[in-house]
Amino acid sequence: MHVSHHLANDPLTRNIVYPFANASFLARNPPLCIEGGDDVYVFDRRGKRYIDGQGGLWNVNAGHGRAEVKRAIVQQLDKLSFYSQFGNTATLPAAELAEVMCRMAEPEGMRRVFFSSGGSEAVEAAIKLARQYWRLSGHPERFKFISLRLAYHGVTLGALSLNGRTPYREQYEPLLPGFYQVESPYQYRNPFTADPLELGRLCADLLEREIIYQGPGSVAAFIAEPIQGAGGVIVPPPNFWPLVREVCDRHDVLLISDEVVTGFGRSGSLFGCRAFNVKPDIMTFAKGINSGYIPLGATMINERIAQAFETHDESEFSPHAFMHGNTYAGHPVACAAAIANLRIVEQEDLPANAKEVGAYFLDRLKEMAVRHPNIGEVRGMGLMIGVELVADAETKQPFDLSERFGAKIWEICVAKGVLMRNLADTFIISPPLTLKKEHVDLVVDVFDQAISAVE
Ligand SMILES: Cc1ncc(COP(=O)(O)O)c(C=O)c1O
Repeated sequence: MHVSHHLANDPLTRNIVYPFANASFLARNPPLCIEGGDDVYVFDRRGKRYIDGQGGLWNVNAGHGRAEVKRAIVQQLDKLSFYSQFGNTATLPAAELAEVMCRMAEPEGMRRVFFSSGGSEAVEAAIKLARQYWRLSGHPERFKFISLRLAYHGVTLGALSLNGRTPYREQYEPLLPGFYQVESPYQYRNPFTADPLELGRLCADLLEREIIYQGPGSVAAFIAEPIQGAGGVIVPPPNFWPLVREVCDRHDVLLISDEVVTGFGRSGSLFGCRAFNVKPDIMTFAKGINSGYIPLGATMINERIAQAFETHDESEFSPHAFMHGNTYAGHPVACAAAIANLRIVEQEDLPANAKEVGAYFLDRLKEMAVRHPNIGEVRGMGLMIGVELVADAETKQPFDLSERFGAKIWEICVAKGVLMRNLADTFIISPPLTLKKEHVDLVVDVFDQAISAVE
């Protein structure tokens, strides 16, 4: 593919490999360069202002440029920019943050935290903790993992093997053995039933059938996002998670809640699993843990898992030692940012704001959908919203992506100062949790006009 010399030489695209992107497309359509941020707004190179309807990448929960977070970062840098958690050294911010997180996740029964640098790493650690837990408990044969179709758990080979979307997987196959996916409770698109509770029951049954088929004694854990995010904001029926917990208990399978997007308020509850009244055994975090000011991931384990790692054997290579960790595990600057960020989450009760403003957002979008035959479904929970566009609402036939229906709407929204993520013609709305109703009105008006223009 030939591209014009001028565009191929754009400094934004000349030397970088972008994530999840087609280099030829980007060479011809250079990305929008963001240079500034203030609360729910970001600014481009010309100073044009946008409402950040995607909250960075559903991670800037406390908003851009928060003075409290910046101050915590600078104070930590003034003291110490880095020291390692390896080889019997430690830093205080990680220990303090772990204490804060264990207090916040006390109702879920979480006891300890392992730190890393992002969501994929947090999931990777969860996989290894679960496998080692079963070895330490005398069941090394429990090594398999089950996840959901349409799941997104990250990009490292372990996390990728849990993902449930073919285009993300197929270029990198073969993936790890022992990883299986079952049907996701996707209310808008499933071949089973239109009744949500029946669907919740059925999908939990399918999980149980898979566990039995694999041999219940061979499954280490089931992992899922409380609300599937990158799969298109798929909110499960209310009975799904409680039934999943029952299925896992019946077969002694661990339950891992991937809270990388839902953690710390986005769903309208502090944690996604709390919204469904379920206590997992392991929880994974990143993104909203410090609103993206510095990369950070975390994996929490409950008392049951934590206890298995306790031993009288104090040798370095004891099977009870967790033989895993990145240089940046517990990075003091990232942890200091997280402590300041979580203080904002609690003091400003951002989960409550996400719940209230999210409900208003959903109402306004549903009102708008009535006027647009190409909106198949508006769905979401808290400030995690999906708007699925379809060529035919009657048959739910998706658009051929080469028609660029969603892409054209996206371009108009950007021109009018609204950023949302268009993922295969589902618009994902995930703004900072500080969003107000007046911002919602603005986003909905622009979205409405953009859809009308393209229709
Ligand atoms: C639920 C979930 N888990 C894990 C990840 C991976 O996180 P990261 O991109 O920080 O590696 C993501 C990223 O979007 C996610 O949505």
